[in-house]
Amino acid sequence: MKNLKKLLIKKLLYGGYGLAEAEDKAYMVDYALPGELVEADVYREKKDHSFARTVKVLIPSLSRRDAPCPYYGTCGGCQLQHLKYNEQLKLKEEILLETLSRIGKVHVKSLEPTLHGGEFGYRIRVQFKVSGGRLGFFERRSHNLVDVESCLLVHPSINGLIPSLRELSKRLKSLKEIHVFYSPHEKEFILKLFPEDIPPKEKLKKSMENLLTSNIVGVGVYHRGKAYSLGRDFTFVKVGLYRYRVSIDSFLQVNYLLWDSFVEEAVPKSDFERVLELHCGVGFFSLFLANRSRFLVSYDSNRSAIRDAEYNAKMNSLGNISFEHGDGFEALRRHAGDVIDLLFLDPPRSGLSEGEAKLILQNKPKEIVYVSCEPTTLARDLKTLLTGGYYLASLRMVDNFPNTYHIEAIAHIRMG
Ligand SMILES: C[S@@+](CC[C@H](N)C(=O)[O-])C[C@H]1O[C@@H](n2cnc3c(N)ncnc32)[C@H](O)[C@@H]1O
Repeated sequence: MKNLKKLLIKKLLYGGYGLAEAEDKAYMVDYALPGELVEADVYREKKDHSFARTVKVLIPSLSRRDAPCPYYGTCGGCQLQHLKYNEQLKLKEEILLETLSRIGKVHVKSLEPTLHGGEFGYRIRVQFKVSGGRLGFFERRSHNLVDVESCLLVHPSINGLIPSLRELSKRLKSLKEIHVFYSPHEKEFILKLFPEDIPPKEKLKKSMENLLTSNIVGVGVYHRGKAYSLGRDFTFVKVGLYRYRVSIDSFLQVNYLLWDSFVEEAVPKSDFERVLELHCGVGFFSLFLANRSRFLVSYDSNRSAIRDAEYNAKMNSLGNISFEHGDGFEALRRHAGDVIDLLFLDPPRSGLSEGEAKLILQNKPKEIVYVSCEPTTLARDLKTLLTGGYYLASLRMVDNFPNTYHIEAIAHIRMG
């Protein structure tokens, strides 16, 4: 039975919810926009806040649009398609500023102009859920599979592959997930298959016969880790003037439309003697940082990424970078006594550990670039750094994930 309530939405929250307040309670409402009056079904009640889903928009916002995707509202992949794209940018900027101020007590007066590209067709990596010939994504907060013909967020070439992947999941019944990685420069794919049990190589080859096109250059099979692979497990991409090898097990920024401008805005325009980078991945920023550094040491905890990064430095004839496999904390401990002119950070969503933040404040690098994909941990870490004597020189949002609630940002931080 539905538990319906009329709610007036005050603002948009991180996560894509509209916030309403009624009877001393906060309501987090899916698919609702600031200023709207909606009828919503309350599906989870907690003591001081509840979750609801818009059933009917009684008074719509001028910023509302019909979602371009036919699966929107069922598929859990996007949260903001009902909001005009320019308004998505505006409201995400407000959320970023509000999060920094609420969690970090960091009050930023103005942001640098946001980096954004096209709102669709930007993802070159995607994880499809599959089940016996059905392929798509999970519904929001559920493990029900929404079967899709195509996805507006992914590169059109990935959509072109969907019929074959669907057929593969029919032939290989134990398949649960297919991860696709597409290189827009090489126009080739690598696939990661996640079956419930490992198919013998011959069976997999037979299942793929006359099905997968020749531009699928490699297929890896994963079951509690990597079982085996067929073909190549890497491809190449270009960022600016540099060419990168990227293995299927290494991280790569998903929004290829922003690669060049992202690097341009994140890497400082001045020159540095000694630069330390944690979380370097395949060297996405490192190759450009090397041009600004006399000597650069870059760390990542993923061996596959470090192998790619070393290869990439050589392939691009850059001799002043040393890539090390290692955890950020260990790296900071190892360089504890060194003079560091620039520290470049791009952590996962968890942000910096307490130990890492402490070591940074002891070492006091002159300048820090902090690239973040999670505003709540950015706010927490900025608070620590700013209390320790730094100031925030500039902050820029990067809309790496249009139509979803995710927010990326670049913070340039200097010693006060
Ligand atoms: C958001 S990605 C950024 C990678 C790279 N900067 C890029 O733009 O492609 C975060 C990277 O941090 C690495 N990582 C995660 N935890 C780490 C840790 N504790 N120490 C060092 N690297 C870590 C991951 O392997 C991943 O490559």
